[in-house]
Amino acid sequence: MDTQIKASRRLEVLMLPFLAIGHISPFLELAKKLSDNGFSIHLCSTPINLTFIKTKIPTKYSPTIRLLQLHLPESPHLPPHYHTTNALPPHLTPAFDATLSAAESAFSDVMKALAPDLFVYDVLMPPWAAGVAASHNVPAVQFFTSSSAMCAYLAHMFHRPSTEYPLVDLNLTRHEHERIRRLIGDKRDSGRGVFDDNVMAISTSREIEGKYVDYLGEILQENNLQVLILGAMVQDLDLGDEGDSSEVIEWLGTRPENSTLFICFGSECVPSKEAMEEIAFGLELSQVNFLWVIRFPKGALPEGFIERVGERGRVVEGWAPQARILAHPSVGGFLSHCGWNSVLEGVRYGVPIIVMPMHRIDQPVNGRLVVEIGVGVEVGRDGDGKFGREEVSRVVKDVMGGEVGEDMRRNVRKIGEKVRVSSVEEMGVASNVLAQLCKNNNNNGQFVL
Ligand SMILES: *[C@@H]1O[C@H](CO)[C@@H](O)[C@H](O)[C@H]1NC(C)=O
Ligand SMILES: *[C@@H]1O[C@H](CO)[C@@H](O)[C@H](O)[C@H]1NC(C)=O
Repeated sequence: MDTQIKASRRLEVLMLPFLAIGHISPFLELAKKLSDNGFSIHLCSTPINLTFIKTKIPTKYSPTIRLLQLHLPESPHLPPHYHTTNALPPHLTPAFDATLSAAESAFSDVMKALAPDLFVYDVLMPPWAAGVAASHNVPAVQFFTSSSAMCAYLAHMFHRPSTEYPLVDLNLTRHEHERIRRLIGDKRDSGRGVFDDNVMAISTSREIEGKYVDYLGEILQENNLQVLILGAMVQDLDLGDEGDSSEVIEWLGTRPENSTLFICFGSECVPSKEAMEEIAFGLELSQVNFLWVIRFPKGALPEGFIERVGERGRVVEGWAPQARILAHPSVGGFLSHCGWNSVLEGVRYGVPIIVMPMHRIDQPVNGRLVVEIGVGVEVGRDGDGKFGREEVSRVVKDVMGGEVGEDMRRNVRKIGEKVRVSSVEEMGVASNVLAQLCKNNNNNGQFVL
């Protein structure tokens, strides 16, 4: 590999993801990739999340990926097991935000003790993240854990708010533009946002987002910022990822090739009861095989659903090894909320995506990108913005059976393979750039992209 780091010791990188699994996962993938490229990683999070992360680090990385505890200030309103957004009751969100905002000095201690060569932090972290790095004179890189399409859209709103978003192929409706604008308006008004530090790293590949990467680069450059493309940060299958998954994988083995729809709405997203029911009835109508991962299945499904679908479908509670499932030959479609990690995994493993964005700001944007690049089909909403079983069934049948699905599957596989190859190169370039940014790097190289 031509990306060897020439420094005589491993460069030390401190990473600080936002306290949510959907954010920690791409950070952990980045940690593995940087570790492969000669860096030493210290991943910092709250103890409750670290217990989870620990189980996800393959043994081969235990010397180079270490965990550091971040102790949020004590709060009578927020017990330590809520030092994560996973399963955080909505009424505790303000307490969570306040506690995280007050963690500057705790984090400053971590930074001081470690004195790393480089700091990589989540755009969702409070302003103190960048501030602490600056005050300790540590170069910092922001990591945006959604798509370039989303990041370009945000950058446009921050820096060119009075002009139309020019990338019309994303096909956002006026209503959707307005909704996103409203949702992020507060952040822009606060005058601080995602575009403060000078390098913005994104887990994606030019193969799927070239146009958005270019537009983002253009806007950021005008503001003396740089985009750093990391390649698509997707979990490799040969590393760890054991878990008690064998039953699910065994069951998949009994299904015919391409026949099974995988359904998962990610680690944080819980669809409404109404949406769950429409999906369930849609699956019954469509008659396809399916594997459905549901975080809180109790009472979420229609009466008698499990009995009626019988061997045709499996419902798994909680967590499942998504990458291994997507890579399984029996899986022929992926019904997803279009969180960015899920999109990248679906594409990487060549599985057409059935797009059903739920509530988040970025999911609809990611979903439109999926449609634009020909790797998925969106389930339309009705006039009231709701999902209906007939439409779910129609799209599922299109993708899982028939020519539309077959063509798309071939196409996604091709794109997935290109993404795999280009991501390796992109990561190589990115790790050189990061090495050059490191403050104690002997290379003393020029930062060029
Ligand atoms: C955008 O929407 C229009 C109208 O609904 C449709 O005809 C067109 O194919 C869409 N373009 C993409 C890239 O999805
Ligand atoms: C499954 O899909 C792949 C990709 O399109 C295709 O090459 C393969 O022949 C399909 N298998 C079956 C049994 O249809």
